[in-house]
Amino acid sequence: MNNIEAKAKLEAYGQLHLLDWYDEISEFEQCQLLEQIDALDMQLLDVFKKYQQNNEVPRGKLEPMGALTIEEIAENHDKFESAGLEAIRHGKIGAVLLAGGMGTRLGFDKPKGMYNIGLTKNLYIFECLIHNLMQVVDQAGAFVPLFIMTSEKNDEDTREFFAEMKYFGYNPEYIHFFIQDTAPAVDADGKILLEEKGKIATSPNGNGGWFSSLIKAGLLNVLQREEIEWLNIFSVDNVLQKIADPCFIGATILSGCESGSKVVSKADPEERVGVLCLENGKPSIVEYYEMTPEMIASREPDGRLSYNYGVILNYLFQTKKLTELLNNQLAVHIVNKKVPYINKNGEFVNPTEANAYKFEKLVLDMIHLQDSCLSYEVDREKEFAPVKNAEGVDSVSSARELLQKNGIEL
Ligand code: UTP
Repeated sequence: MNNIEAKAKLEAYGQLHLLDWYDEISEFEQCQLLEQIDALDMQLLDVFKKYQQNNEVPRGKLEPMGALTIEEIAENHDKFESAGLEAIRHGKIGAVLLAGGMGTRLGFDKPKGMYNIGLTKNLYIFECLIHNLMQVVDQAGAFVPLFIMTSEKNDEDTREFFAEMKYFGYNPEYIHFFIQDTAPAVDADGKILLEEKGKIATSPNGNGGWFSSLIKAGLLNVLQREEIEWLNIFSVDNVLQKIADPCFIGATILSGCESGSKVVSKADPEERVGVLCLENGKPSIVEYYEMTPEMIASREPDGRLSYNYGVILNYLFQTKKLTELLNNQLAVHIVNKKVPYINKNGEFVNPTEANAYKFEKLVLDMIHLQDSCLSYEVDREKEFAPVKNAEGVDSVSSARELLQKNGIEL
């Protein structure tokens, strides 16, 4: 794109200020800026306008959804596990690690997976995850292709770290890194921010961008060539989770559902967790802040909470279905955050309070695009130790405690 084309694109959306410093910056920076402008998705600005007018799409009819309980899973364990192991041995299963987040709450300036959670020895978060996956590889006698999504901001560090650590014993031929897409940040007037005079302020576009980013990176080839039918999507921060869990895979395949989600029973009705439910008869995730007090308190005849099953970001999706859904627009969520920027006078400002809005797509919205989803209950004490915060709930110390409870030496 040349600067005349860029001007035309920006003018139509009242964003010409992005070229305010164009004549001052180097030729290299000019090229970079033009590339960024070319890639800008202007539809996001319409989304922002709607958001400001409070025109968000209302939710459909929400109803509770049960789960395959821990007891039911235990009764069918061998059957589920052997179906899952067979799928793994036939190369039908891939795993996708979502590691493109900024990890701001943890306050660690490297990729979250590089955090050392050990006490008497080094034990990195990435190491815990690879160790968990390795147990399945050993059990199945077959490697599971692992796709690792990074962001522009943490890609280099992540790749270098894995290489330095010799992939924690995983076969690197089965590891594929890819970078997730970004989205720009805007101010309260919907003006896109510059983080440098020749650079638009962008950040990772939320974990829902994983499949389109994977395709953009050319990895559909690998999925098709290897005939990978199911992808297990998981987050970087749950150090206890089972990855490519044969029992979960087998149960989902045998259920005939289009997708699967691991869930935990809520610790208490008010727990701040997204809950798997039905929306207009289709699986969907309702966030804790979207639930009415009646929904939160509602109980089934057996005493269990009606909206009981919280998601833990561990899903199974079918590659075929994801490919069909590629052109389906996922909802864009808008979040208010601190974003450093260049002001009208060309000065760099590092705000102390949230000053900007970012656009994010969420993997949990992919569940509602599925006709069915197996809700698969796991024991939170054994499979849910997220590292989100530096202290308190879901923190390094709570995760350490759970790791130790599960016999993992720190
Ligand atoms: P979180 O919602 O916890 O976000 O991500 P975060 O960015 O890691 O942390 P905070 O909110 O800044 O503290 C849940 C999972 O989704 C991934 C994260 O890496 C984590 O595994 N994620 C999140 C992405 O891969 N890309 C994103 O743009 C956002």
